[in-house]
Amino acid sequence: MTSFWSIWVIVLTVACLALIFGLLLWNLKNYTGVKEGESCGHEFDGIEELNNPLPKWWTYLFFATFVWSVYYLAMYPGLGNFQGFLKWTSSNQGVTSMEESKKAIEEAKANGEWVQLDQEYVAADERFGPIFQAFAKQDIETLATNEEALEIGQRLYAQNCSQCHGSDARGGMGFPNLTDNDWLYGGNPDQIKATLLHGRVAAMPGWESALGEQGIKEMTAYVLSLSGRKVNAKDAQAGQAKFAMCAACHGMDGKGSVANNNPFGAPNLTDNIWLYGGSQRAVEETLINGRAGVMPAWKDILGEDKVHLLTAYVYSLSQNK
Ligand code: HEC
Ligand code: HEC
Repeated sequence: MTSFWSIWVIVLTVACLALIFGLLLWNLKNYTGVKEGESCGHEFDGIEELNNPLPKWWTYLFFATFVWSVYYLAMYPGLGNFQGFLKWTSSNQGVTSMEESKKAIEEAKANGEWVQLDQEYVAADERFGPIFQAFAKQDIETLATNEEALEIGQRLYAQNCSQCHGSDARGGMGFPNLTDNDWLYGGNPDQIKATLLHGRVAAMPGWESALGEQGIKEMTAYVLSLSGRKVNAKDAQAGQAKFAMCAACHGMDGKGSVANNNPFGAPNLTDNIWLYGGSQRAVEETLINGRAGVMPAWKDILGEDKVHLLTAYVYSLSQNK
């Protein structure tokens, strides 16, 4: 806020409070010349107006709210740019990265400032940290059969992952289904944990300039034929002839990164499970523009212990399927 608006807010707020206070005091005096409890001489359909003072309890409440407002404005932010004597803030405002956030927290702690959110985090860590630490000592396969661990994992999932992968973990357009056994980066416990800890960035370039319009059409036909779809055989053959340019990631057999043991996260193109849709339009669009899905890294946000538990939860979703 510029200082003009800051002063504007302060003057308006203080003037308004003063006005209300004056109005209250003014109302406590009897200016009518009529004795308390007697008629003011007005009558409406048999209802008389008596000169009654404000009820005492109401007046005291009014004074109390007034005292509270003065205390509140002095202690908490609200009066223009004035931060309040408690230096209270609801968040680390203006913070845009983890590094800035950590620095702001350290500074706030060093200055003895009261950042409520951080205090709540610290309190929660003290209370629940030991539970997560105990779970972190068990291996993931064991945890994946532990009811209590899975229940906590499910909560963590709902809070942190469901907005992208869906509350049932079945994913959606661009967000992989975590309940099937079709993996981009591998579904064993170590691979899932690595995905969660460090995140993943997919990078499939667009092929329009390399293949041209006709080439895209042919390659689309070949890709669709891989999962047994009926396509123009001549187109598919022409596409197959150029598939070597895709093989570095998807493998010569088109079965994707996991089957071909590479780290690129390229989907299996032969199983009719689609990350971005399996219609001819969708595959064409994938080939023309490329795709670059991003899975965030959780190590710094949740910490390793919680990620360990979440790994067990995610791992459990596709077992016995
Ligand atoms: C902002 C959206 C977003 C959030 C939040 C998110 N993910 Fe993801 N996740 C993705 C995307 C996108 C991919 C696929 C990356 C790619 O296209 O290669 C992915 C990939 C994955 C994979 C790899 C799947 C495979 O087939 O190998 C796992 C496992 C996973 N996420 C689990 C989680 C868990 C657990 C959480 C919560 C801690 C989470 N994700 C939160 C977007 C998200
Ligand atoms: C550099 C590695 C790389 C190369 C080369 C590559 N891809 Fe991909 N491809 C990927 C990755 C990674 C994804 C997943 C993108 C994502 O998750 O956002 C992908 C996704 C796709 C999809 C979407 C699959 C789905 O389930 O929706 C198709 C189709 C596809 N690629 C076909 C091809 C074809 C055809 C070629 C060759 C012209 C090719 N790719 C070359 C890495 C590659």
